[in-house]
Amino acid sequence: MTDVGRHPRITLYTLSEVVDVKGYVGNFDVSILKKARYVDEKECTACGECVKVCPVVRSDEFNLGLSSRRAIFTPFPQAVPSAYVINVNECLGHNPVVCAKCIEACDKDCIDFHMSDKEVVEKVGSIVVATGLEVYDPTELEEYAYTRFENVLTSLEFERLINAGGPTRGEVLRPTDRRRPRSVGFVQCVGSRSARRGGSYCSNVCCMNTVKSTLMLKEHYPDIDIKVFYIDIRAFGKGFEDLYTRSRRSGVNYLRGLPGTVEENADKSLKVFVENTATGKLETHHLDMLVLALGIKPASGTQRLQEMLGLQLTPDGFFLEAHPKMQPVDAATRGIFYAGCAEGPKDIKESVTQASAAAGRAIRLMHKGEITTEPITSMVVAEQCKSCGKCAEVCPYNAISVDVKRKTPAVVNTAACAGCGTCAAECPFSAIIMNHFTDQQILSQVHALLEEDPEQKILAFACNWCSYAGADYAGVSRLQYPPNVRLIRTMCSGRVDEKFVWEGFLSGAPVILVSGCHIGDCHYIDANHWTEKRIKKIHKKMTKLGIRPERLHLEWISAAEGVRFAAVMQRIESFRQGVTPEEIAETIEILKG
Ligand code: FES
Repeated sequence: MTDVGRHPRITLYTLSEVVDVKGYVGNFDVSILKKARYVDEKECTACGECVKVCPVVRSDEFNLGLSSRRAIFTPFPQAVPSAYVINVNECLGHNPVVCAKCIEACDKDCIDFHMSDKEVVEKVGSIVVATGLEVYDPTELEEYAYTRFENVLTSLEFERLINAGGPTRGEVLRPTDRRRPRSVGFVQCVGSRSARRGGSYCSNVCCMNTVKSTLMLKEHYPDIDIKVFYIDIRAFGKGFEDLYTRSRRSGVNYLRGLPGTVEENADKSLKVFVENTATGKLETHHLDMLVLALGIKPASGTQRLQEMLGLQLTPDGFFLEAHPKMQPVDAATRGIFYAGCAEGPKDIKESVTQASAAAGRAIRLMHKGEITTEPITSMVVAEQCKSCGKCAEVCPYNAISVDVKRKTPAVVNTAACAGCGTCAAECPFSAIIMNHFTDQQILSQVHALLEEDPEQKILAFACNWCSYAGADYAGVSRLQYPPNVRLIRTMCSGRVDEKFVWEGFLSGAPVILVSGCHIGDCHYIDANHWTEKRIKKIHKKMTKLGIRPERLHLEWISAAEGVRFAAVMQRIESFRQGVTPEEIAETIEILKG
């Protein structure tokens, strides 16, 4: 961080918040609210004279309330910049009775109560989202009695206690009597791997953090009794299994099973009741201290940032990458990358690896000074556009602007357009041309594929990234699926226009399939939500017209689901065999009429 602070080409905004982001790859305008520090960070040498005279004492957030700080403080010893900051809501100087003791103590005149928050706008070409994480609050877990019993600590609190720079200078002391505990228990998966208690995902770091803590404890106090209550230990990284083995060999007792209740004795020691699932027995353990290994949660501002940048979140609330294997650090929006726990729980090594990859991807994108875009973008036919604004509403990338009041034709920002084609499919006036996937091109494919024996065919629209790849996967896996399936590839299922479906039925198709990525996995943020809505609309119209809606299928098939692709096709083929030539002819008559 010190290197970052000193780097001539890096502007570091501390005590700041991103309040708005506008623009697109290569041209982002980022509005930053720089909060007032009330101390000149360039002049302050962190001599500490101001702290000595500050009369306001508050609990220190960095040490999780295990020590105190003043109203003028540095957030933590290695903070960059190395300068003090005043929490003006705590400072007496902000009250009618002005204290101003820090101003008198500072011989460099760094303190200025007239400072105010400032908004700055930075122009940037790419953005790396590295917003970090939050930890699970175990207060809601009655059974562990956190906050009820003082000797139940969280793993973060324990981390501060055992840290040489922490409030006890590395001495592990019980909060109740400030004596060294003779026995310590660790409870794993607190707020992880349970939908009811935090998140259903594995937080990735807690097992090894506990293994490390047990080794440190054993190094400090070889005679200490340590018990770890776990579901299973996930020591998957390089050298992790060795550490785990070392911990076991050092005498740490690993017990399979999570505590059901914790009780406090008169001397403030703890009684932990647990079912040992390895032996099937109910056990009671007497411990001086209990440490809860907390799970990881998405950072609190994640949702706001997601809305600001038009990104996607996983069901767990972390940012979703463009592709889990091929683009693991890219966002679906071009020019935005992820690093660290913003994208999912990970340890330091993985975070550094991802951050390096994100920086590399950003440099690769920016170094030429110009952006190369795919030619698959949409184009507005100004004469046909009625400025209804539907295209702008459905565009997942905010790449289309249209002045509905002034009735000016829509304009597509081709740098921001990713080419899903949802705008073209939704435009009620056919005023948008999707280059390389034009109406004419797709309709010609429909006609060609249904030219001969249409009643024998299954017409399937498949999105490039998932379903088409799923079909491919079925092929390379040598899976059998009906040979009468005729695929039309679109970049996204969002491109499948209503008129393609009608044209398919008009050309004699007995059954039509529209398939795309699973909801939440669309490569164009949420374009397939529009597919879903559109298909529902078509189903309703079919019912009204007297056409069986079952003849139009919607299926979500991922690139890895070759087996599913084959199974879906078999199912649709059996359905197709039930569609009679009379029914097809009747449909054609209805649609012609
Ligand atoms: Fe597959 Fe959108 S990319 S449905």
